[in-house]
Amino acid sequence: MQAVSINNRGHMEIGGCDTVKLTAKYGTPLYVVDEGMVRRNCALYRDTLEKHYPDSMVAFAGKSFLPTAMCRLVEEEGLGLDTVSGGEIYTALQANFPPEKIIFHGNNKSVHEIMLALNAGVGRFVVDSFSELQMLSQLATSKNLVAQIYLRVNPAIEPDTHEFIQTGQMDSKFGFGIDDQVMEAVEMATDLPGLNLLGLHCHIGSQIHDLAPFTKAAAIMVDLMLRIRRENGLVLKELDLGGGLGIRYLPNDKTLSIPDYVKAVATTVKKRATQLDLPLPKLILEPGRSIVGEAGITLFKIGSWKEVPGVRKYVAVDGGMMSDLRPALYGARYHAVLANRPKAPAQETVTIAGKACESGDILIKDIKLPHLSRGDVLAVLSTGAYHYSMANNYNRFGKPAVVFVRDDKSELVVSRETYADLTKNDIMPAHMLRKGEKSGA
Ligand code: LLP
Repeated sequence: MQAVSINNRGHMEIGGCDTVKLTAKYGTPLYVVDEGMVRRNCALYRDTLEKHYPDSMVAFAGKSFLPTAMCRLVEEEGLGLDTVSGGEIYTALQANFPPEKIIFHGNNKSVHEIMLALNAGVGRFVVDSFSELQMLSQLATSKNLVAQIYLRVNPAIEPDTHEFIQTGQMDSKFGFGIDDQVMEAVEMATDLPGLNLLGLHCHIGSQIHDLAPFTKAAAIMVDLMLRIRRENGLVLKELDLGGGLGIRYLPNDKTLSIPDYVKAVATTVKKRATQLDLPLPKLILEPGRSIVGEAGITLFKIGSWKEVPGVRKYVAVDGGMMSDLRPALYGARYHAVLANRPKAPAQETVTIAGKACESGDILIKDIKLPHLSRGDVLAVLSTGAYHYSMANNYNRFGKPAVVFVRDDKSELVVSRETYADLTKNDIMPAHMLRKGEKSGA
């Protein structure tokens, strides 16, 4: 997680910027991302993978965090981009991201999304189902194009992570079952026009802290490539093993380092393929959380508090499940620092509540902090991944702004949603319009 550094004003700083000044300049809640740390993580992935497996690509998983500035950063660091929707592809194209380095996932791609991707020249389609194979074949042939595809395989592995973010287990909405469906999918993919089956993909889950499930999945996928060569005579050229490396949310959390993870996976693929006498496929990894997660924090202002005598003290901040959904959705746990007085001794155990109209909107249950007062700035750590990207407008709160910080400078990369943004798509039906009003659209 972000190492908490303290400046000579006694305030927490990030990327050389004073967090209290950031809140004065941009308001709260505020997502702050340490650009230097994101770039270092990208480079660490890129360089380690290149060292252990030269024919490879790291594709950043855009679902974790994808403003246009992030697309640009990802391109500058030489990474590809994993996308899951027309909206993410559109965002990348708006940032002039090279389409050939985009991988397009999704278990229910629409005709419109596929056409957008085909027209833009998106590099790889990860096909999730038999119905998608047929649809993609028809749409590609109608445009006289050949879509370069991977089959998403469900390798039936259950890593030890939250049930909602496991994806590779047997009973999953994603991908072709490894035992019963994938061989038929290979046949279909090779028979249908407009498709070029280049490789396989799997993603076993997210926030994983052990090497074993990753290396097991890698070995299973290489074995499957051998089976496909034996049974179909097809030598697949690419292997995409998804993302999933965990990060630290709490000070005592332990996790794997990026180099240890990358090295273990790359070495497994290399060894296994060599043992089986298979030509080495191009290897793709799709990390999201481990690139941006620890580089981001959310800054809040303390507002009200309430004591339930003998039970607990609630202290409320000016965001919550609309800006930071993971605690409410997954029971995820976070650490926080009093950013305007980080050195003050922790005296009270409090529960940090959000301001959404929902009892479950609790950001941190039982954390020991200095005495908090109205206007204090609270920094919640490790919120760079799946916070901005999962923000919502519950209770008609606008989404917070996003700021990049680097070398003592801050740069707004997403502006705060205004009240006008919240009603800009609303339309008053003609029969409800009052004299002098416009429909609003
Ligand atoms: N590739 C594919 C196909 C994926 O489905 C995912 C994540 C990734 C890559 C990136 O995984 P990462 O390296 O970020 O773990 N909203 C949840 C996480 C859902 C992850 C879904 N897929 C959360 O906040 O924990």
